[in-house]
Amino acid sequence: MQARRNFLKRMAIATAGFSILGHFKANGAGVADASHALQQLTPEQGSYNEDLWNQIRLAYPISRGVIYLNSGGVSPHPKVVQDALFRYHQLANLGPSLYMNRHLKKEVPPLRRKLAALAGCQVEELSIKRNTTEALTTVIMGLNLQAGDEVVLARQDYPNMVHAWKQREKRDNITLVWVDLPMPSDDGQQLIEIYKNAFTRKTKVVHLTHVNNWTGQMLPVKDLCRLAKERNIQTVVDGAHSFAQINFRIDDLDCDYFGTSLHKWLSAPLGTGLLYVRKSLISQLWPLYATADPYSDSIYKFEGQGTHDLPNEMAIGEAITFHEMIGIDRKEARLRYLKKYFAKKISSHPRIKMLTPEDPQFSTCLVSFDIDGTTNKDIDMMVRDLLLKYNVLASIVNWAELKGIRVTPNVFTNLKDLDQCSEAIIELIES
Ligand SMILES: Cc1ncc(COP(=O)(O)O)c(C=O)c1O
Repeated sequence: MQARRNFLKRMAIATAGFSILGHFKANGAGVADASHALQQLTPEQGSYNEDLWNQIRLAYPISRGVIYLNSGGVSPHPKVVQDALFRYHQLANLGPSLYMNRHLKKEVPPLRRKLAALAGCQVEELSIKRNTTEALTTVIMGLNLQAGDEVVLARQDYPNMVHAWKQREKRDNITLVWVDLPMPSDDGQQLIEIYKNAFTRKTKVVHLTHVNNWTGQMLPVKDLCRLAKERNIQTVVDGAHSFAQINFRIDDLDCDYFGTSLHKWLSAPLGTGLLYVRKSLISQLWPLYATADPYSDSIYKFEGQGTHDLPNEMAIGEAITFHEMIGIDRKEARLRYLKKYFAKKISSHPRIKMLTPEDPQFSTCLVSFDIDGTTNKDIDMMVRDLLLKYNVLASIVNWAELKGIRVTPNVFTNLKDLDQCSEAIIELIES
């Protein structure tokens, strides 16, 4: 018994030895120096210090043969996160039911605390999920709604969420009330009025995409949540593109539900996300995967999905450390700088029509634009040619009458990448 206890103790120490920061330093000394140097500058000054950001770029072992401009889809992980993933998987595979269930699980509570601190909510309100789709489908399918109840959402919201709401409409005869968002828009009052005009006495829920994935359009979510709250309307926020890209806290938004993917702007492992549910609403939300007490007010009732990739989740810790080492203010300033730089390069072309607002209050680093005289098919071909002829990976915008190309830089993007991308786009337009 004593020998067994000693063995478990040794294991616990060994597991704790996979310390996040210790390992980070071993692999990321250049990044640590760059981060330290950035701390001596204001975020704005740091945003255009190409030398420092080039050091941070080295932390990402991405292909140097492709200019990766689709972190809005999925971001690559920095080396420290890749290493952590490998370590956690190796550890689990020493014997999963022992090493994963007993040892790794002990590291989950500190990870949750770290994630909650980053998100700006209580630990008891946060559930680790695989992605935004899973997080928000839990909400959309789990809300108590009756036939005739109204849900307000935008035609430009993300397809998976729109599909989930439409399924709910078919299943329960709820009524979906659609708004059309003018994009680009830097008129916060107009955006607010659009939602306000859609609210009726029957409105129970409003679905809000914090930063629109097609255009980068940012909504005044905090104001909209306040407006909804005054009318007893519950708020579901899709934060796939705001989380870890811009500096805000979930509890500042004062929304009821929030979902995001951590594999986008946090550079966390693929298939990681989070769900926030306001504490007072947990007991009323049905879990997607049934648990013994569906009326429980414990956030853990949303984690009844069975065996899942715990090593993957554990490596979120390293992604947070990496993210915090740069610092959200510096990251946001850099991303905004890159967006501005790129938008300036292309926006004066007579055939380019920007879909992304210029005003930083209504945009982030996603840049989307349409090209006059093109069809969706032409855009598909251009995005294909960007990759095949110029090694630039961008993405296609094609939803709710929005058409164009989207470019999403990241902290590993440098100005040369954006020069090459803009020159390639202009060459393709003029060819
Ligand atoms: C606004 C928005 N919501 C939800 C999602 C779904 O994210 P995931 O595929 O990680 O579930 C995306 C993905 O791009 C998105 O952009």
